[in-house]
Amino acid sequence: MASSTTFLVLTALLALLSWQAIASDPSPLQDFCVADKDSHVRVNGFVCKDPKDVKADDFFLAANLDKPRDTTVSKVGSNVTLINVMRIPGLNTLGISLARIDYAPLGENPPHTHPRATEILTVLEGTLYVGFVTSNQDNKLFTKTLNKGDVFVFPEGLIHFQFNPCPDKPAVAIAALSSQNPGAITIANAVFGSKPPISDDVLAKAFQVEKKTVDWLQAQFWSDNHN
Ligand SMILES: *[C@@H]1O[C@H](CO)[C@@H](O)[C@H](O)[C@H]1NC(C)=O
Repeated sequence: MASSTTFLVLTALLALLSWQAIASDPSPLQDFCVADKDSHVRVNGFVCKDPKDVKADDFFLAANLDKPRDTTVSKVGSNVTLINVMRIPGLNTLGISLARIDYAPLGENPPHTHPRATEILTVLEGTLYVGFVTSNQDNKLFTKTLNKGDVFVFPEGLIHFQFNPCPDKPAVAIAALSSQNPGAITIANAVFGSKPPISDDVLAKAFQVEKKTVDWLQAQFWSDNHN
């Protein structure tokens, strides 16, 4: 009897744990919870606007995602247009967002992670060399060259990148992300471009280079490719 109770408790715990692992954002408890951006109440996400005041426009954005973006602004030669809850308030609590990514010839979306989302990406134009690295200790690299129409997945939290290997053609991708607010941490920017800078003693040891190499890296302009 006691062991079957233990079994039930363990099964319930496992079910909870696996639910946690598959749901990126918490599941909604109502049809929708359109973000009330004016509220001063702080919750995880945004508080809900009164459903009586909700309109179709709360779920809409004339985002012009069919139009190419300028890839010459950022030094990495790419431009990420992210449609998250800040742009569409109706996304609040729904655990999903969308991005268009434009790549200049030889442009890249540099190594970065989304702390709160898995990403699924499809190539609309051109070719992309993509990859992600698993967590410690293995740090195993998975890569693939994607052509138009191909789809690739970047698991939640892992460092990943996309590079356009073509010297004379741009590339375009559309990505869906499993969070209303996936977040992005561009590795180089976060490590070498933090404000204020991380101590060069810390980074010299971490990267096993001389402090002057770290100082040089920290003096660079770490441009963001996000809109
Ligand atoms: C992205 O493209 C838009 C429109 O083409 C441009 O206004 C913007 O400055 C670009 N942003 C970045 C970060 O490259």
